[in-house]
Amino acid sequence: MIKFDFNTYMNSFINKNTMKKLLERKEDVFEKFNNSSMIGWTKEFNKALLADILELRDSIKEDADCLVVLGIGGSFLGSYALKEMFTKYFNDKSFEVIYAGFDLSSKYLSELVEYLEDKNFYVNVISKSGTTMETSIFYDALKTLMKRKYGAWEMKKRIIVTTDDSTGKLREEVISEGYRSFIIPDNIGGRYSLITAAHLLPLSFFLDINRLVNGFYDGLSLKDDAYNYACVRRYLFACKKYIENYCVYESNMYYYTEWLKQLFGETEGKNKQGIFPVSTVHTRDLHSLGQFIQEGNPIIFETFIKILNTKDFYVNNRNLDDINSVVLDSVVKAHYSGAVPCNIILMDEVNEKNIGMLCAFFMLSASYSGYLFDVEPFDQPGVEVYKKFVRDNLSSIE
Ligand code: PA5
Repeated sequence: MIKFDFNTYMNSFINKNTMKKLLERKEDVFEKFNNSSMIGWTKEFNKALLADILELRDSIKEDADCLVVLGIGGSFLGSYALKEMFTKYFNDKSFEVIYAGFDLSSKYLSELVEYLEDKNFYVNVISKSGTTMETSIFYDALKTLMKRKYGAWEMKKRIIVTTDDSTGKLREEVISEGYRSFIIPDNIGGRYSLITAAHLLPLSFFLDINRLVNGFYDGLSLKDDAYNYACVRRYLFACKKYIENYCVYESNMYYYTEWLKQLFGETEGKNKQGIFPVSTVHTRDLHSLGQFIQEGNPIIFETFIKILNTKDFYVNNRNLDDINSVVLDSVVKAHYSGAVPCNIILMDEVNEKNIGMLCAFFMLSASYSGYLFDVEPFDQPGVEVYKKFVRDNLSSIE
């Protein structure tokens, strides 16, 4: 169950006539969205993919004790976010999934290579373009290790490539080396690729991907709620509320807010437009950023993700979830009293169906929001600018 409250702690900030004008753009926004060539994630799902992934997962688990997943940005955040939410904080790992290739840390890479020396592992390299520097560097280092450890023939079996169907360096390698591969379809961009193999293969080690996909498709019916949320955010931006703070009450949801930051930040942040997404994990961050939110520069609004039940755990005869929930309600009231408009998204529990629905809701809303800001929701031309500087500057040290 998911419920949305974009009214109770919002209404007093909203001018009904201006909001009406935004709501009236719905037909136009939906038409633009439906005409986009990048909404493959709303189209029919190929169920055979799930069976392939589950079969591969089982064979990897039987044959190895570790899978290394390489990727960055849209080829990393979705699965890492959900993996965090669906695994125990303290875990005796019988099978390990390690994420890497999301930065250029020589400490991380050298320690990873050292750690894998005695492990029996597979690699899943994920990159739609096939050229992303961070992922490529980690991939090259692991291939060198694998070649030495397993030999060229055995290595082939242990590499799984998830990339574009026909173009890019990784696809060429799949063809020349005969690696097992999955496709990130042309009509799905990186940050919208949650229900492709880019995320479903790693996630199959942590959760029920069938239920996740079903939840996601159910969530695609939340068009009206997603549009309302987009309108509220667009309205607040016009009132100089330039920062949206996503608030979560469970530390393992931190990476979910990282996924949200990429989704909204890369979708809207163009042509000098867009809301800057940030996040706080409560109650930890109430003891740091809470001061700024309550009394600082009033450019912030918030979206709280409230989960009703996690565990039935009592301390001194009091249910800890009840305390956390009372704190959330109190924080919303306190921040609202400090002129911070607040949205609330309520979920009865974290399960695959709810999270799939929630992801679909946010992906729809981010796309609609792009159109409300009059920018193209599905590209990210600004990301290329730093890459060009990197290329130019790296050539000077080669
Ligand atoms: O949303 C996006 O498109 C980006 O964040 C990409 O996912 C990211 O740059 C990684 O790209 P690739 O999958 O080509 O390695």
